[in-house]
Amino acid sequence: MNNKYELIYEGKAKKVFSHNDSDKVIIEFKDDATAFNALKKARFEGKGKLNCLISARIFELLIKNNIPTHFIELKNENTMIAKKIKVIPLEIVLRNTAYGSLCKQTTIKPGTVLVKPLIDIYLKNDELNDPLLTKDRIELMNILSSKDLDLIINLTIKINGIMKSFFKNIQLQLVDFKLEFGYDFKNDILLGDEISPDNCRLWDLNQKNDTIVSLDKDIFRNDLGGLIEAYSEINRRINKLT
Ligand code: TMP
Ligand code: ASP
Repeated sequence: MNNKYELIYEGKAKKVFSHNDSDKVIIEFKDDATAFNALKKARFEGKGKLNCLISARIFELLIKNNIPTHFIELKNENTMIAKKIKVIPLEIVLRNTAYGSLCKQTTIKPGTVLVKPLIDIYLKNDELNDPLLTKDRIELMNILSSKDLDLIINLTIKINGIMKSFFKNIQLQLVDFKLEFGYDFKNDILLGDEISPDNCRLWDLNQKNDTIVSLDKDIFRNDLGGLIEAYSEINRRINKLT
């Protein structure tokens, strides 16, 4: 990114720059990957571009379905223009199938299809290791009103419906995903962050047997190899749709 734009924030996978229009930001997707609160780190050439392109397509799909998001347009392959938001420090995880931390912390077996989606809300706070919250704890911290919390939960359920059928169409099982929301200058709630194989679990449905084939960041978390090939395959299947 050329230096006429000021770096406002650098996260683990993205950089956020100022835009000439103060209601907008420029988001650059990095090739860096982290897991387990950055205990594990690596760089995958081309990951930023793939996540940016995949996210843009999913945001467009959601906008078409009347979900308010921060996405405006792609600037280039690894950079997007978005509405500036004040990020709500919550990570909203929706699970359709049990996997990951849910199976580490409960007796639910990996791969169990949940009767109804489970929503787990975590505090976005690296120092505290993103702890799992309760509704009462959220209320105590005064992070947002219960009306706004309900709005976010309802949006997450709606987003799940849209994404689940979209991914099923391209032979992918949407196991779970993580969303972040924020307030724009009008104080409206928008979906922010990214929607990519970094924050969704996607399993290949083109399998003859029951083996789990992850096409997401679990490849890095579990050292399975072939991360760029998997992300490229998702991008390829999405692009085949149009
Ligand atoms: P978990 O099973 O590790 O709790 O992850 C649930 C989903 O949330 C999975 O799709 C990965 C995503 N996720 C993030 O995007 N960021 C995170 O920091 C964590 C822990 C999970
Ligand atoms: N995003 C988190 C981290 O870097 C964890 C994860 O996605 O597994 O640390």
